[in-house]
Amino acid sequence: MSSELRGRRGSFIVLEGCDRTGKTSQCKTLVDKLMQADIQARYMNFPDRGTQCGQLINGYLTRKDDFTDEGIHLLFTLNRWEKTREMEQLLRSGVSLIVDRYSFSGVAFSSAKGLDLDWCKAPESGLLKPDLVILLTLSPEAMAKRGGFGDERYEVPAFQKKVIEKYSILKDDRYWKEIDADKTFDNLTEELYNEVLNSIKNSGDKAIEKLW
Ligand SMILES: Nc1ncnc2c1ncn2[C@@H]1O[C@H](COP(=O)(O)OP(=O)(O)O)[C@@H](O)[C@H]1O
Ligand SMILES: [Mg+2]
Repeated sequence: MSSELRGRRGSFIVLEGCDRTGKTSQCKTLVDKLMQADIQARYMNFPDRGTQCGQLINGYLTRKDDFTDEGIHLLFTLNRWEKTREMEQLLRSGVSLIVDRYSFSGVAFSSAKGLDLDWCKAPESGLLKPDLVILLTLSPEAMAKRGGFGDERYEVPAFQKKVIEKYSILKDDRYWKEIDADKTFDNLTEELYNEVLNSIKNSGDKAIEKLW
């Protein structure tokens, strides 16, 4: 570990944004870059399909199983509560978490389906609050250029547009940064890496806060 980070907690950083903005590939690349720089970091993603309730979520997303909108919302939330202890332990032991989607996706997706936004936020209250949320944006034209959406639920352009509107309601400038993802992969990585390094330097001696 680089010496100036020793004894400090890790930073909790979330990448949010619509499908195909590059969240998954950038999160993984950022973790690789941090590790190469001798900074402890871990990739995590939500939903985590590997937990018990992650299996139910996977069944829903692949259209094998069905739940009410309220029911699946609570499963996505529970999926985050399942990981909270592990996340807190990692942060306290100095590992930064680069997290692919979090509560903001959960609330944006469910409220885009018509559920009340405050109802959606309520069960997320008390989860760990990220130190930094990076919202990756793409214009509809740039999004169209990224090619076809997949077959899972939600991977429909009209629905993605509603999700963007919900993100703009949730956005809190005190800890959110919006970054245009319409650039080469490497240029975007460089921009994100600078933000991530700043966050790691700045959050090491701050308390871990709770959401909402
Ligand atoms: N900067 C970029 N420019 C062009 N295509 C990209 C860029 N970043 C990612 N992609 C492509 O977009 C697709 C989605 O990337 P992914 O990381 O899975 O996004 P997300 O997790 O946000 O859905 C992949 O096919 C990836 O190769
Ligand atoms: Mg992804």
